Amino acid sequence: MSQPVYPVPANWAADALIDEAKYQALYRRSVDDPDGFWREEAKRLDWIKPFTKVKETSFHEADFGIRWFGDGSLNLSANCLDRHLGTRGDQVAILWEPDSPDGPARRITYRELHEQVCRFANLLRSRGVGKGDRVTIYLPMVPEAAVAMLACARIGAIHSIVFAGFSPEALAGRIQDCDSRVVLTADEGLRGGKAIPLMANVDAALAHAPGVETVIVLAHTGANVVMRDGRDVDWAEGVEGQSPDCAPEEMGAEDPLFILYTSGSTGKPKGVLHTTGGYSVWASMTHEYVFDYRPGQIFWCAADVGWVTGHTYVVYGPLLNGGTTVMFEGVPNYPDPSRFWQIVDKFQVEIFYGAPTALRALMREGDEWVARTSRKSLRLLGSVGEPINPEAWEWYYRVVGEARCPIVDTWWQTETGGATMTPLPGATALKPGAASWPMFGVRPLLLDAEGQILEGAAEGSLVIADSWPGQMRTVWGDHERFFQTYFTTYKGYYFTGDGCRRDEDGYYWITGRIDDVINVSGHRMGTAEIESALVAHSKVAEAAVVGMPHAIKGQGIYAYVTTNAEVEPDEALRAELVKWVRTEIGPIATPDVIQFTPALPKTRSGKIMRRILRKIAENDTGNLGDTSTLADPGVVDHLLANRPQVE
Ligand code: WT7
Repeated sequence: MSQPVYPVPANWAADALIDEAKYQALYRRSVDDPDGFWREEAKRLDWIKPFTKVKETSFHEADFGIRWFGDGSLNLSANCLDRHLGTRGDQVAILWEPDSPDGPARRITYRELHEQVCRFANLLRSRGVGKGDRVTIYLPMVPEAAVAMLACARIGAIHSIVFAGFSPEALAGRIQDCDSRVVLTADEGLRGGKAIPLMANVDAALAHAPGVETVIVLAHTGANVVMRDGRDVDWAEGVEGQSPDCAPEEMGAEDPLFILYTSGSTGKPKGVLHTTGGYSVWASMTHEYVFDYRPGQIFWCAADVGWVTGHTYVVYGPLLNGGTTVMFEGVPNYPDPSRFWQIVDKFQVEIFYGAPTALRALMREGDEWVARTSRKSLRLLGSVGEPINPEAWEWYYRVVGEARCPIVDTWWQTETGGATMTPLPGATALKPGAASWPMFGVRPLLLDAEGQILEGAAEGSLVIADSWPGQMRTVWGDHERFFQTYFTTYKGYYFTGDGCRRDEDGYYWITGRIDDVINVSGHRMGTAEIESALVAHSKVAEAAVVGMPHAIKGQGIYAYVTTNAEVEPDEALRAELVKWVRTEIGPIATPDVIQFTPALPKTRSGKIMRRILRKIAENDTGNLGDTSTLADPGVVDHLLANRPQVE
């Protein structure tokens, strides 16, 4: 099958910051002389104390450690705000679009944002928050979420954002894991016209997280909420008397910046920790090069700040680069499937960066929703979060971009801080669906099952051979788990958990997770997490969860459930379990299929044979492979005979 290749358009090759020759030269330098390369790149930031050391990293057990710019100091908030005031104080920093197109948009200049951040930082300080303290943020997509992040960074507090779609139980777990004493929230969030009771969720969460002393509540929808004396502070009242100046805290390059919880193949979610210097350099550099970004261009990353994409490309990358960043509170199809492209026209967005799952959903609604908008302002498109199938890529390219805009399909992870493999618009001929080339400083390798390095065109496990500045530094509170999770599968390498193919031209293609992690609508979930939620239900004895192909979500959730002996599984229980998982974790973890089974297929040593469960979920039952090690082969026949009809 011949594969389409889209050459770099002539104007892009001529005008972009980086063309192919420059990419090759810079990439070489970044791996041959990392200290020299990163010393140069770090000049994009204002340092309080200049660093003398650049890269001090090892992935080996004997001297394991990751430090970048280790003896330098800086403040990220000052880099995002203060240093722009002289040159672009009146430029819009944040363009905010509310959930409903009838609500007023907001335009916040750098000067205004600086003032709001300082006032809020002072409010946090007045509540006793200082350097190293953890602040949990549970806010909708409103500018105050960015204000809160920047205020934490300003005073050296470590923010931990919990996506506002997570349940009170999930929120409580994340508050407790990092011992936050402060939670920032709103009365309600709004998504697609529906109100989400954030304050009520916080109240419910705090019943299990008694250490929280302060809750700062933003009046967003104006809903009635019960405020508790001593604990709860109204956001507007709290900032009212605060000074509009707040001296930024001097932060060591390796001082923690934020924690973001993400799911792995085992155990509870991990608090991924990013630090100040390396992350900031990485966010700024990747945002500039990947999007060929020039200060003042209108940039829209349609991700929620509850995910790492929102951290790096809604807030920190664009603001570090003097950008104008769009924040959208709502969803792609409300009030109708034109919404994204209407916002593009309204704000004259030049660069749009979104997730394949949204594109697939919009593609299904038909081209006319796109065609009725202009989109003339667009010059570049981006994709992130999951593999983009060629059909969705072509639709994005032809219908949304009218074959005029390159698409940068950026592969990365919460752990990697920012785009790690991606095409560059002025440098890389595009192959639909390929993550293409490594970002500067990133040394990808493909390994076989024995850990041998594969050369040339090959497919294997994707590892990264050496550190880059945006890499996570530890799992909050569990450094041993950090090492075990990422550096022991293949000794001396960072293991991504993804499978990957390299083609004859040296392009990388992500084939998807090879661990027990699934990607549902671009949201990453550990199957173990959903299993433990199911097993926590009083009628469930055992559960196994696998991914299944899903036309819109990329992957859906397929759960095999064994009930307790006295329980007769029926439709009512099915509905009850779906609801149960939604309250235990959140709506994003809603099972698409629940198959009841008297037993799970296990080996004689008691290990669940997930390979078989995946095949049944994928409806790929022609060849189940070797089933000879099964303790009871009859279990598989029962599963096959009772597989529910899936659309
Ligand atoms: C996993 C990381 C990227 C930040 C948001 C998600 C998958 C991500 C791509 C892509 C193919 C992708 C990988 C990765 N993934 N981007 N462009 N092409 N797969 O971060 O929640 O930490 O998930 O998302 O499987 O490991 P995350």
